Amino acid sequence: MTDIRTRKADHIELALKSMHQSQQGAGFDRLSFEPNPLPQIALNDIELHGDFLGQTVSAPFLIGAMTGGCENGELINRHLAEAVEACQIPLALGSQRAALEQGVQQDLRRWAPSAILLSNLGATQLQQSGLDLAKQAVESVQANALIIHLNPLQELIQPNGDRDWNLVLEGIENCADKLEVPIIVKEVGSGIGPSSAKKLMDAGVNWIEVAGRGGTSWASIELDRNGSEREREIAAPFIDWGMDTVDLLPAVHNACPSLELIGSGGVRHGLDIARCIRLGATMTALAQPFLAPALESTEAVIDKISILQEQLRWTMFLTGSQTLTDLRHAALQ
Ligand SMILES: Cc1cc2nc3c(=O)[nH]c(=O)nc-3n(C[C@H](O)[C@H](O)[C@H](O)COP(=O)(O)O)c2cc1C
Repeated sequence: MTDIRTRKADHIELALKSMHQSQQGAGFDRLSFEPNPLPQIALNDIELHGDFLGQTVSAPFLIGAMTGGCENGELINRHLAEAVEACQIPLALGSQRAALEQGVQQDLRRWAPSAILLSNLGATQLQQSGLDLAKQAVESVQANALIIHLNPLQELIQPNGDRDWNLVLEGIENCADKLEVPIIVKEVGSGIGPSSAKKLMDAGVNWIEVAGRGGTSWASIELDRNGSEREREIAAPFIDWGMDTVDLLPAVHNACPSLELIGSGGVRHGLDIARCIRLGATMTALAQPFLAPALESTEAVIDKISILQEQLRWTMFLTGSQTLTDLRHAALQ
């Protein structure tokens, strides 16, 4: 396997370990909905569906970016793709860089002909001739949008990571201007705050996936892979670098009310999804919680989706919210 493919396989193995999940959580437990013991609605009448990129989704969450091209990736992608097709939930691919560089077929559409699929590339790959790469990523899976991920801390910890970020914003702006599909910019677990969100908005980006602190810790995973004693000492203070998802969502929403937000980073169940929606997110994303089901089978992924949907439905019932619009106004402490 090449370096990138080995790295991806390591990431999958390590991301399954609880030691690489933030020990503090994403702050969701600090937020309680005011219980409504008089819901005045019927559970069966609750409507979870929403709109995402001009299409209907059965619930306001997507499967977050994980795999794009490693040995296990094909099987994982198949399970995820078949499940999202069956459940009308969008699927974000992991970085397609390795697959594109090696000419690996990424024919996800054979398993998910009508699902919303989101392409994925790292922002540093878009600095030079980025537009061509972005077009290839989108065309290779006939994606509905391109996700560009920002991961400066992860790049610092990786031995050969990208250290020159001078032209990253220009690369994003160029894609936002010239690509025919929408751009979504995300972090990978440290979060995007209001200052960066404003710059991205000015660069023509309409969607931000917050990916705040509280879930999978990339600093922890990368150090576990190949940290020397010296690198560990340098990186130690940055293990919990970033801001909690629950703090970032309202901050970005207030600073840039016209931006569409995807709440992510440590979202672990349907109650967290509801909290993100209440804090201003249009959609939410969960990555690591889908990893074990994706390694198992399509049915396991479908089960996970339906459990999340049911937990969201319960939250809506218990707050007396019949629709997602009602949930956005539910009392929250
Ligand atoms: C195994 C694994 C691989 C990932 N690979 C990518 C990737 O290639 N591109 C990307 O944008 N994010 C990637 N991520 C980051 C997730 O999309 C997400 O932002 C982050 O894990 C926080 O969400 P979580 O707490 O729900 O896991 C990966 C996450 C996991 C667990």
